[in-house]
Amino acid sequence: MPELEQALTEIAAEMAERTDRGDVATYIPQLGKVDPKKFGIAAVTNDGRVLVAGDADEPFSIQSISKVFTLTLALGNVGDALWQRVGREPSGNPFNSIVQLEHENGIPRNPFINAGAIVISDILLAGHQPREAIGEILRFIQFLADDETIIIDREVAASERATGFRNLALANYMKSFGNLNHAPDLALGVYFHHCAIAMSCRQLAVAGRFLANGGKNPATGHSVVSAERARRIGAMMLTCGHYDGSGDFAFRVGIPGKSGVGGGILAIVPGVASLAVWSPGLNANGNSRLGSIALERLAKMMNWSVFAP
Ligand code: DON
Repeated sequence: MPELEQALTEIAAEMAERTDRGDVATYIPQLGKVDPKKFGIAAVTNDGRVLVAGDADEPFSIQSISKVFTLTLALGNVGDALWQRVGREPSGNPFNSIVQLEHENGIPRNPFINAGAIVISDILLAGHQPREAIGEILRFIQFLADDETIIIDREVAASERATGFRNLALANYMKSFGNLNHAPDLALGVYFHHCAIAMSCRQLAVAGRFLANGGKNPATGHSVVSAERARRIGAMMLTCGHYDGSGDFAFRVGIPGKSGVGGGILAIVPGVASLAVWSPGLNANGNSRLGSIALERLAKMMNWSVFAP
């Protein structure tokens, strides 16, 4: 696949020139300090190639991308019982919306909106202290990325806790419906810390490769999840991974993706490759502006789509 390497290089060069980079998230003050000019992209193919361009080795705050890994872990712990507490429908609302929760009796629409991810954190707390649950999530991600140097950025976690009043409201509201088993503060502690994990595009693309390969690590053949579960996680990413911008991402890019307000996106080409891109400026839906454009460009150049024959 020599053309893939060239495509990544071309895209990184084009993105470096662009001035329409969107706005860096500032509602978590620590995220507002990131240089908006950064751009990185990485591809890990099922046949074992790791290709990168731009700032692909610089760690950034993965934020909501971590929700793919906490969902995977929680499904491993409790199986399909998880879906009694979290729905599987696109929200059609911003990621931190409260309104829908009342109509739906405290059951979040999907595991990727904040409310859904807080319930997943509550599931991962079962039988653990918050510190142990956070450690389990971090170790799982380190294992998937085959890299023990991945850390949680404590300053980002603290910054988020200090300003996360809306998440506090979501957690307390769900607790009132009986959809949290632990104190809201404990579930939020887990949630804030997994959102504050810092990874590079390269690490992220490696961590996602099991999703591109039917649930198995393509390098070792070891199973992370069943093929059916990998497909279903991909379905959640495609329908819910970009919040109220999920339809547009599916229309323009055509493959499952999960964004984070740190400006990263993890995207999966089933059977082919795991991709990660990072550009801190966001579009109106809170998804990386240039990251989405870069993936759209790459999918077109490589003729990648889950809808292709
Ligand atoms: O709870 C928050 O607001 C952040 N920790 C995560 C939000 C996020 O990444 C939404 N993604 N686009």
